Amino acid sequence: MFVRWKYLIAAAVVAPFVGLFVAWSGLIGIGASSGHWSITDWFLHYTMRSSIRTAALGKTVPPLDSPEMLPMAAGHYEQGCAMCHGSPARARPAVVFGMLPVPPELAPQVPTWTNAQLFQIVQHGVRFTGMPAWAAEHREDEVWAMVAFLRQLPGMDAARYRQLAGPAPGEPAGQAAVLGCQSCHAEDRLNGRSLIPSLAGQSPDYLRDSLVAYLEGERHSGIMQTAVNGLKVDDAGRLAAYFAGLPRNGIAAADRKPRGADAAAGEQLALRGRPENQIPACSTCHEKADGNPAFPRLSGQSVPYLAQQLRLFRDGYRGGGPFSHLMTRAADNLTDKDIEDLAAYYAGREAVR
Ligand code: HEC
Ligand code: HEC
Ligand code: HEC
Repeated sequence: MFVRWKYLIAAAVVAPFVGLFVAWSGLIGIGASSGHWSITDWFLHYTMRSSIRTAALGKTVPPLDSPEMLPMAAGHYEQGCAMCHGSPARARPAVVFGMLPVPPELAPQVPTWTNAQLFQIVQHGVRFTGMPAWAAEHREDEVWAMVAFLRQLPGMDAARYRQLAGPAPGEPAGQAAVLGCQSCHAEDRLNGRSLIPSLAGQSPDYLRDSLVAYLEGERHSGIMQTAVNGLKVDDAGRLAAYFAGLPRNGIAAADRKPRGADAAAGEQLALRGRPENQIPACSTCHEKADGNPAFPRLSGQSVPYLAQQLRLFRDGYRGGGPFSHLMTRAADNLTDKDIEDLAAYYAGREAVR
């Protein structure tokens, strides 16, 4: 018995050195071209599925039935996912078949996962596979929109996909330079529930500051940080001027009518603030004829977009341009009800200018 223990201990001591020696020898192939042995492949996928199943336990799934989640997510899928996974409108490019593992077509895979599991995969990525994590850590709202889109993917045809994702770059639709942007931001693709902001007629200074903030990682959105990939600071000024000069289609007033929120209470708060909670009047900075051009105009933006940005400011995740700390302070003590009321008030105002 005693002898056996001695052997066991010796083996435990020696094993790491043997492992290190094998690694040093270079005998283990790491080339992707040869693929995994099927047992390795089985083991890795077994581990991946188990890990995702455990990590997703207890995750609360928000409602995923808002149709407005789909254009934003589809546009991002086109820019950030289709080059590996393909889409209903294009097959996977040849180059990904040299990856190990090969990124799968997602339509057949999606039904094998729950929504919470898909969230886990898209939010955190999959280690050792090339599947990247979401670019902005605290944007669960964006990741859930992607889950809503993935759920629709099985059975989606190319025409429906194009309708959601917008025209592909290169298709004749507007200025070449802004094609990628217009697939999401085109005014005629927006409505009163859109999660994508309207840029037309916005202050050019604010638009430029925002683009630079995304580029430099000072404003956090996985969708926009992917969209500005490859853009230069000079392009930011040009794009900002272009969008600022576009006429607003203006979301139809009826479409902007707040549901359930108290726009009158929002107006009170916007114009007077609430000193006992250190909430300043929003109107000291926003929607002023002679205001600082770096401060954005809010009127005519949709309720869900405004409310989401206010929540991000309040929770400390929004970031932004050189003046964004002012806004973070202004939003610090807003309640959920304040946010809904303020969004309703500003969305319902006629767009100025
Ligand atoms: C650089 C290539 C690459 C990009 C970009 C990429 N993925 Fe992946 N993805 C992978 C690889 C590789 C796997 C792992 C496949 C496996 O299971 O072996 C994967 C796995 C997945 C899975 C799990 C599929 C399954 O059942 O195995 C989902 C869902 C997924 N990706 C969604 C996305 C979404 C959504 C995006 C865009 C936000 C995205 N991926 C971007 C390469 C990529
Ligand atoms: C895949 C869809 C998509 C594409 C493509 C896209 N955007 Fe965006 N854009 C969004 C979303 C969603 C937001 C809101 C992000 C956030 O929460 O910060 C946004 C926000 C912005 C903002 C901030 C607006 C504001 O009111 O604060 C600017 C500026 C902007 N985008 C410009 C661009 C430009 C320029 C391009 C092209 C280079 C572009 N976008 C491409 C979806 C997109
Ligand atoms: C002291 C000036 C100041 C005050 C007061 C202020 N804001 Fe702001 N607000 C800003 C600035 C500056 C930004 C732009 C931040 C950035 O992205 O760089 C901003 C951005 C915003 C945005 C995001 C717009 C977009 O397109 O993404 C919303 C929504 C907003 N403010 C609403 C409010 C509301 C509601 C109040 C009142 C509770 C308020 N603000 C009070 C300065 C202010």
